[in-house]
Amino acid sequence: KSGCITFDEGYGNTGSCQSDISFIDGEKGILRHRGYPIEQLAEHSSFLETAMLVIYGELPHEECLDAFRQHVRRNASIHTGMHHHFDGFPSDAHPMAILSAMLNSLGAYYPEMSSNNRDQDLAHFDETAALLISKVRTIAAMTFRMKMGLPFEYPDHKRRYTENFLHMMFSEPYGEYVDDHGAAEALDLFLMLHADHEQNCSTSTVRMVASGGANLFASVSAGVCALWGPSHGGANMAVIKMLEEIHQDGDDGTRFIEAAKKGEAKLMGFGHRVYKNYDPRAKILGKSAENMLQSMGMQDPLLDIAKRLEQAALEDDYFVSRKLYPNVDFYSGIILKAIGIPVEMFTVMFAIGRMPGWIANWKEIAENPKSRIHRPRQIYTGETQRDYVKLGDR
Ligand code: SDX
Repeated sequence: KSGCITFDEGYGNTGSCQSDISFIDGEKGILRHRGYPIEQLAEHSSFLETAMLVIYGELPHEECLDAFRQHVRRNASIHTGMHHHFDGFPSDAHPMAILSAMLNSLGAYYPEMSSNNRDQDLAHFDETAALLISKVRTIAAMTFRMKMGLPFEYPDHKRRYTENFLHMMFSEPYGEYVDDHGAAEALDLFLMLHADHEQNCSTSTVRMVASGGANLFASVSAGVCALWGPSHGGANMAVIKMLEEIHQDGDDGTRFIEAAKKGEAKLMGFGHRVYKNYDPRAKILGKSAENMLQSMGMQDPLLDIAKRLEQAALEDDYFVSRKLYPNVDFYSGIILKAIGIPVEMFTVMFAIGRMPGWIANWKEIAENPKSRIHRPRQIYTGETQRDYVKLGDR
């Protein structure tokens, strides 16, 4: 089965692990979840259906998918005790700091799901998974409202997953959020394309924390912290900032490309540890960004700059020789910006999308009776043995 590499379980001497969830062929630009090509999932599936596929291994039957949807819908609100946490955060706190804190705090409100006793936590797995997928969205929206000084907007159980998120983000007491430009559909595709991605930095972090027996809330909270880094999930924010700087400089991208080639700048949203070909998700997101702006009758100069940068880079030997292609972050910010999501929330959106992958990887560790605590070894490059020197003799 592709995706199962025969290394020893856990992070033994090989530094690799075994997983059945996602398969990437970096040279060919292939990504499959449980064997299904990302292109087919993008065309036919939804975020919640792909979440079930990633977590449980199969495309769900209709009644299973409906039951999961109901489970997610019923878990949309957060405990009122957690509302008070927002009173303590400064309004300029970074949304990723709030998200990791709030996700870990969920464990305090659901002790039966966060016992750190593997069998007990697994016995509650289905509820915990649906609860996390639902509440991560609510916490994100509440964070935005707190930072904007707006009252919290409660979930509307009649709305589907992504539209409910946009409602909690943007509905006002004097006017409900109306999605009249395909925002929910574009955001659902965005979330679906982020669902899982093999052993990336944040997913490996989740597995590391899970391998010690920690509960799912603690593990995904650690994943959020890892995702925050600008080389990882923080790149989608960095891409928009880069495009805005290029636009403000009146540059058509030419000067920026030259700076990147001199090592004076990084072309954010380009390059990948595994893909040495076009990231298949970037292709889909590039098209989705174009379609969305067209349907909104919007012109975004940043999209034009992004397309020019991509064209220039794909023809330039500096990038071609280093196999640097657009990755998932290159176009995603343009979609989020068109939907009206502030740049500071972009990496939080990535976390919402990646939640199913983190949950699936935690499950893979927790369910494996052979799984041991991950304990990578190192090559020691420090001092050889030496004797203690008293303070007065130093
Ligand atoms: C994600 O792992 C995952 O699967 C992650 C992810 C997921 O879904 O979870 O796909 C999501 O994190 C995507 C990546 C988002 N990050 C960025 O877009 C930040 C910009 N990209 C770079 O930081 C970089 O490309 C990395 C970190 C993504 C990958 O780095 P590598 O593969 O370790 O490449 P490298 O640092 O060894 O660089 C190789 C060469 C170097 O030049 P030389 O030393 O050979 O002269 O390529 C250059 C680098 O300077 N280079 C770039 C570049 N990325 C690498 N030059 C300009 N712009 C870039 N973006």
